[in-house]
Amino acid sequence: MSVLNKIARTLVSNRRGILAADESIGTMSSRLEKVGVEATAENRRLYRELIVTTPQLAESISGIILADETFHQKLSNGRTFPEYLGDIGILAGIKVDTGAKPLAGAPGEKVTEGLDGLRERIEEYVRLGATFAKWRAVIDIGDGRPTDRAVRANAHALARYAGLCQEGGLVPIVEPEVLMDGSHSLAKCQEVTTSVLETVFAELDLMEVQLDGIVLKPNMVVAGAESTEQPSVEDVANATVESLRAAVPASVPGIAFLSGGQRPEVATQNLAAMQKLESLPWELTYSFGRALVGPALETWRGDNGNEAAAQQALSERAVANASAR
Ligand code: 13P
Repeated sequence: MSVLNKIARTLVSNRRGILAADESIGTMSSRLEKVGVEATAENRRLYRELIVTTPQLAESISGIILADETFHQKLSNGRTFPEYLGDIGILAGIKVDTGAKPLAGAPGEKVTEGLDGLRERIEEYVRLGATFAKWRAVIDIGDGRPTDRAVRANAHALARYAGLCQEGGLVPIVEPEVLMDGSHSLAKCQEVTTSVLETVFAELDLMEVQLDGIVLKPNMVVAGAESTEQPSVEDVANATVESLRAAVPASVPGIAFLSGGQRPEVATQNLAAMQKLESLPWELTYSFGRALVGPALETWRGDNGNEAAAQQALSERAVANASAR
């Protein structure tokens, strides 16, 4: 078994999943401000410390994706975040893209950037303790969107990122997120998700990315958040697995879903329903951000006295998702 395959399997096995705590400085700052916490580097550090020191987290979480800022910060005990995660048996991951920017010639669509200098950045993150990485592409459904142009540009960047990660010894999390913003139907999301995944795997093939050394992080197939026809849990599970079967080779060890703005309980129910479907060739797990940490942040609100309750809120979501598997 190659080292990359071993890391990928560790990330998705034993009913554990991945916690995405890699919000950019801008996103994390606005989430803190929403719950009345001043957006400073120290408060972002404090909040991330609360997350990673949640008791028994390693029983349900295999890896945590960190942002660059956190990767260089220390906990109160003097350990860096990646060192501390290693101490408690959780793999340290790093978000290496630099964000989704407007794509020329494609109004309303974005392409994720961050390839320049990536080889050198990967080298540095490996030295600091990273074993896996993440790159998120966003695909929007709307009037005439997505265009082939946007899908192909994003798939190409994902594949180049994945190739560089593997060359440098990191398992790439390949994340093409079809957004749930809008009023589109479940069928539309399924059609777009399947086609995006097919394009991504064609590009990964072209770049000779070793598929048993990646983790795919897709959206679940859902109806747009503003759609008046919301599908049942079973419909979401069936549509999602159909898309995956159509596009994802069996050599991919695991698929770890993003939550994408679904309510935490709904994301967990959808994940549970998918496990019941027959003969799945891959592990199906979670790599949630908001659906894992949202309730904890709401509970904490920057108050030391709420710390234990906030950790309890995270613990409940993590255990519920592990149980869903
Ligand atoms: P959500 O689960 O909040 O969608 O975040 C997952 C993630 O990592 C987005 O890039």
